[in-house]
Amino acid sequence: MARVNQCIQERLQSEIVLINQIGHYIVNSGGKRLRPVLHLLTSKALGYGGDQHIECATLIEFIHTATLLHDDVVDASELRRGQETANAVFGNEASVLVGDFLYSRAFQMMVEIDRMRVMAILADATNTIAEGEVQQLLNVHDPDTTEARYLQVIHDKTAKLFESATQLAAVLSDQPESLESEIARYGMHLGTAFQLVDDVLDYSGSDIGKNVGDDLAEGKPTLPLIYSMRVGIAEQKALIRDVIEHGGRDQMDAVKAAIESTGAIEYTAQTARTEADKAIDCLANVPDSPYKQALIDLAEFSVNRTY
Ligand code: IPE
Ligand code: IPE
Ligand code: MG
Ligand code: MG
Ligand code: MG
Repeated sequence: MARVNQCIQERLQSEIVLINQIGHYIVNSGGKRLRPVLHLLTSKALGYGGDQHIECATLIEFIHTATLLHDDVVDASELRRGQETANAVFGNEASVLVGDFLYSRAFQMMVEIDRMRVMAILADATNTIAEGEVQQLLNVHDPDTTEARYLQVIHDKTAKLFESATQLAAVLSDQPESLESEIARYGMHLGTAFQLVDDVLDYSGSDIGKNVGDDLAEGKPTLPLIYSMRVGIAEQKALIRDVIEHGGRDQMDAVKAAIESTGAIEYTAQTARTEADKAIDCLANVPDSPYKQALIDLAEFSVNRTY
């Protein structure tokens, strides 16, 4: 990770001062670096002996960072990683454009790795992330969004990049197709658990470095709301339909009470637990090592995390 951090700093450089400013502002603000960690650990668990995992981990973090810069504009978020968002400090225009810089820097780095499979996986992943974010935009203010449509969105916008991070380790280390697909599924299930928990923390979290209630303010139908509407009494159903349709924070306390009394947090957390267990099952054919144990621990972390 020290080498990845070094590589991040080096590859962030540009002759354009504002790019360096915003790039350093977001990259050095204390992200968990979970996707690069997953890539490095999977590479080591699969016995990779080369150097390209460092660049690969770096470019994956750049793609993640680009999506965050864009996401905070789309979500009108003001706090990330315990500090003001880049859009709050530098404005929407600069955030979108520096996001584009990081995206395209990631593609330059992929070309340097010079493996068509690496480019193919990441071209597909970034395209899928964009589809997920656009589908989510269409779901906003729609109280009839189903659990299945919600799960498709979180698969696309979040799980896909986790899947790429782990799959690419299998590609770099030339694993057979069957193991590559198991390792990819490990990342996909872990990423799904991770986003389910993110959506729980948006209601129940404290100290998440982001403003709690952003999803409600946007009228975003995440699983805690979808489930409460499904099992709640008529009054709760009506309340949640109304907040999804109109957004805002005015009814936050009533919504939290409805989510609690319907067991929606437990249901969402349980769904995440099931995904983490599936992730761990996908490691069955990976030989035992401290790296594999860390991968199991990370699946646990994705469900038990509070930040
Ligand atoms: C935030 O991801 C975006 C989601 C997919 C929920 P992380 O929680 O991994 O963000 P950082 O990089 O640690 O801040
Ligand atoms: C994750 O969804 C979005 C991306 C994949 C960029 P969120 O919008 O819930 O992420 P946070 O909560 O702002 O980090
Ligand atoms: Mg967001
Ligand atoms: Mg978002
Ligand atoms: Mg969120």
